[in-house]
Amino acid sequence: MSPAGAVEERVQALLARMSLDQKIGQMTQPERLHVTPAEVKAYHIGSVLSGGGSCPADNRPSDWVAMNDAYWAASMEEDAGHLAIPILYGVDAVHGNANVRGATVFPHNIGLGAAGDPELLERAGRVTAREVLAAGVDWTFAPTLAVARDPRWGRTYESYSEDPGVVAGYAARIVRGLQGEGILACAKHWVGDGGTEAGVDQGDTVVDEEELRRVHMAPYSAAVEAGVPTVMASLSSWRGEKCHAHSYLIRDLLKGEMGFTGFVLSDWNGVDPLAAAYGEAAAMAVNAGIDMLMVPETWREVIAELKQQVKRGVVPIARIDDAVARILRVKFACGLFERPRPAARPASNGIGFGSREHRAVARDAVRKSLVLLKNEDGRLPLDKGARILVAGSAAHDRGRQCGGFTIEWQGVSGNAAIEGGTSMWEGIRAVAPQAVLWEGEGEISDARDFDVGVVIVGEQPYAEGLGDIRHPSPVRPGAHVSVAPGTLQPYGDTLEFAARHPEALRTIRELAARGIPVVTVLISGRPLVVNEELAASSAFVAAWLPGSEGAGVADVLFGHHPFNGRLPMSWPSEMPGVNGRVGTGGNGVLFPRGYGLRPD
Ligand code: BGC
Repeated sequence: MSPAGAVEERVQALLARMSLDQKIGQMTQPERLHVTPAEVKAYHIGSVLSGGGSCPADNRPSDWVAMNDAYWAASMEEDAGHLAIPILYGVDAVHGNANVRGATVFPHNIGLGAAGDPELLERAGRVTAREVLAAGVDWTFAPTLAVARDPRWGRTYESYSEDPGVVAGYAARIVRGLQGEGILACAKHWVGDGGTEAGVDQGDTVVDEEELRRVHMAPYSAAVEAGVPTVMASLSSWRGEKCHAHSYLIRDLLKGEMGFTGFVLSDWNGVDPLAAAYGEAAAMAVNAGIDMLMVPETWREVIAELKQQVKRGVVPIARIDDAVARILRVKFACGLFERPRPAARPASNGIGFGSREHRAVARDAVRKSLVLLKNEDGRLPLDKGARILVAGSAAHDRGRQCGGFTIEWQGVSGNAAIEGGTSMWEGIRAVAPQAVLWEGEGEISDARDFDVGVVIVGEQPYAEGLGDIRHPSPVRPGAHVSVAPGTLQPYGDTLEFAARHPEALRTIRELAARGIPVVTVLISGRPLVVNEELAASSAFVAAWLPGSEGAGVADVLFGHHPFNGRLPMSWPSEMPGVNGRVGTGGNGVLFPRGYGLRPD
């Protein structure tokens, strides 16, 4: 019998033994803070997740292994009222297993898009997978296959490119890299998350079907072909209809036309906005083709409500059986039933976690991702014998380099929380030990003491809608936080960097005014309007969100490695008006996609 046939036989045999409670539990995914191992058993829970920043104990790999071991053991107790079905634990390892202390943190996707190296994606995927396995975890909610079309979107950095061809070209490589080491990948967010009007997170993607297919669906075909076993639905809408309740998108296109045989997961509380009554909302999602429900806190309610909907015939039992069969199929096919408990798995150990070998891959990714936008008078590469002044609020800040989805959902600032790795300043100092760090306060010593200034500035970390650029209407919380509506604000209301971070331009101008030529390095999750900073600088480098290995920037600034990156998105020269567009098809492009200088 073919392996697929054998899996199918096991799926059907197990399904035939399951009660309705066991089936609905299998379809339910609570968040770890809200579910105990005993509840995992009592409610027959199929999966548990960690939201961004939700970490056990001291947040070491061993703490994660212990936590997952307890959930796994509970899920595997077999007795008269419970069937042994291993739990699937999911995390957002979206740029390395970056929630965990001491992880190797890769550049966010936008930087990998600039690198233009599909083989690198596979290597990054393998390292990430090994660090996920080290924590006893089996599943990452990655890759994000969004095709970001507007840099005002707070999740722009999670997108490889505004070009669907680039994202599609990467999709198979990252899926193979992650899965080649034995974890499950999850392509997200189905579909059109990067195409919302004005880049509003969880907004509405108003494009016709031809454009939806050509731009936003294309990467998924590649991922499905490469064997991605899970897909997460998008919190956004397509032409006013929520993707979470979109039967045409999920059942007809993804599962039907594209032949996706794995399971579809809802996003964080993605069921809630579908209808006023929770039961109705859950039924809409499941009937539209969602197989597993990410219901961080309200999992007990969803279990009770969904059961009622099945009893009333609103959700056909055949749909429940299909959903559970899909989940079991993924669990059997990846060998989850054959794996020993997390604590006994050879890969569950801290040995390779954050190792030199892993960091070398991330450092290589940093080098390849840097895009040189200006280089007057051949200012770069730097001479390590030169007298170098390093300045700027992001020069010595590993947290800021990493951006969102690092240790915390919204990321962290400063160096304390990012163990291992190097800030850009640490990288520069290692090459040019006589370089001086000016932390921005007080007088700069005599300008005659310096040949060149390296000013490292950038955005503060952010994630999801809190990174949006738009008028300061409240952001729907959507994820990870229980706050009163209206208390969350977007990152700012303009893409003009100087308006949000005037201190950066002040520092650049201060050095330039003293006759010190300035090399500016920008840390950002997206292209920004930086006309004034560019004008005041002799050289300008877009470094994106490079992650923990800041030394990779020094490698290129000093010419030990060449500039290689090309813009994965067009770079705007102005902030558009309220209904204006930026990025693809918009006006005011300063540098087109693909731009990137190559000094000799
Ligand atoms: C995000 C997803 C993420 C999930 C779990 C949501 O807020 O939209 O991308 O995987 O949270 O942390």
